[in-house]
Amino acid sequence: MFQINDNYLKLKAGYLFPEIARRVNAFVTANPEAPLIRLGIGDVTEPLPKSCRDAMKLAIDEMGTHAGFHGYGPEQGYLWLREAIAKWDYSERGCDVDADEIFVSDGSKCDSSNILDILGVDNRIAVTDPVYPVYVDSNVMAGRTGEAVNSGRYKGLTYLPIDATNGFVAPIPEQIVDLIYLCFPNNPTGAVATKEQLSCWVEYARKNNSLILFDAAYEAFIRDKSLPHSIYEIEGARSCAIEFRSFSKNAGFTGTRCAFTVIPKTLKGKKYNGEEIDLWSLWNRRQSTKFNGVSYIIQRGAEAVYSDAGQAEVKSLVNFYMENASIMRQSLVSAGFDVFGGEHAPYVWISVPKEMDSWTFFDFLLSKANIVGTPGSGFGSSGEGYFRLSAFNNRSNVEEAMQRISNL
Ligand code: MLT
Repeated sequence: MFQINDNYLKLKAGYLFPEIARRVNAFVTANPEAPLIRLGIGDVTEPLPKSCRDAMKLAIDEMGTHAGFHGYGPEQGYLWLREAIAKWDYSERGCDVDADEIFVSDGSKCDSSNILDILGVDNRIAVTDPVYPVYVDSNVMAGRTGEAVNSGRYKGLTYLPIDATNGFVAPIPEQIVDLIYLCFPNNPTGAVATKEQLSCWVEYARKNNSLILFDAAYEAFIRDKSLPHSIYEIEGARSCAIEFRSFSKNAGFTGTRCAFTVIPKTLKGKKYNGEEIDLWSLWNRRQSTKFNGVSYIIQRGAEAVYSDAGQAEVKSLVNFYMENASIMRQSLVSAGFDVFGGEHAPYVWISVPKEMDSWTFFDFLLSKANIVGTPGSGFGSSGEGYFRLSAFNNRSNVEEAMQRISNL
């Protein structure tokens, strides 16, 4: 009989969000009338910006004509979108990123997993703990880790614990690792790194010939102008970092799907014989073989994000969610929780009452207040004792949820 990929058997239980969905579904089946408020998965709730919808409608009409029909697009994305990204997301912030170095895709989750295709299996990998679970699970699936141990961590990975004492920004490790996943603004803790902190990471990576996999999917939520939105704002990052960005959270594309990954042409890795080779060519080869691009209609929608009207709409969406975050922070502080994040990120990270662990708090909040959140331990063993609440919801739900928590 054929064999399966046994690495999947190493995975702990379900992926975090399906596991939450399973518990919530069981609760709803038993309590069909419960007025549930979902602050668990970080999925946007506000409608797509009008500029994006208008651009998509126009693109659909074009597709209905011989002159405007588009079949397979470039696997790397249409140049007009890559040029808009290069100008508005990079050049305007003083970053040296060429349109040609931008690969449009259907999501950062996919890209941050797929990137492993072009990286050797023997790389030593570091992740923070807590961490966005996709970074860990995709390595497990690809056979780049050992078995899980009791704490839920996997053998073979280097975990960099982040907590209130280091401001949820991973300290530079003493040992040498080859691949480092960094996410700022951070999912799940909402922390954000300063230029100085990112500079230390870039310096480390350059000194040790390591690669930083930088997830900046939440950069639009940064409020403080002095904080970096991109790793390429740090000198030297072009030779040691790949960046993942997304239209999901800023422009509400979680259901529409459009993102991009930057691979500088100056970024080199080592071949089996020690010779250097550029990663851009490998990723280009990978994408050309395994990916057929994002649809023309969706890319037109994403392009509209960079129009004047699109920029105003995105700003207003981001402000809306950040006002939610601010309401949440204030209520949770008043209710006596230790509160982190929520200032430059749509996630508020709180410590759970001492007598509970984070899954117990999840069940408690679900049954007593009918609120869904995300237990910190789902993001790693160092997330135990914490809980994540997402600011992606409408205002009345956020206010009602905070009222219910205050009444507990
Ligand atoms: C989350 O809740 O952590 C997000 O939905 C992650 C994602 O964007 O995949």
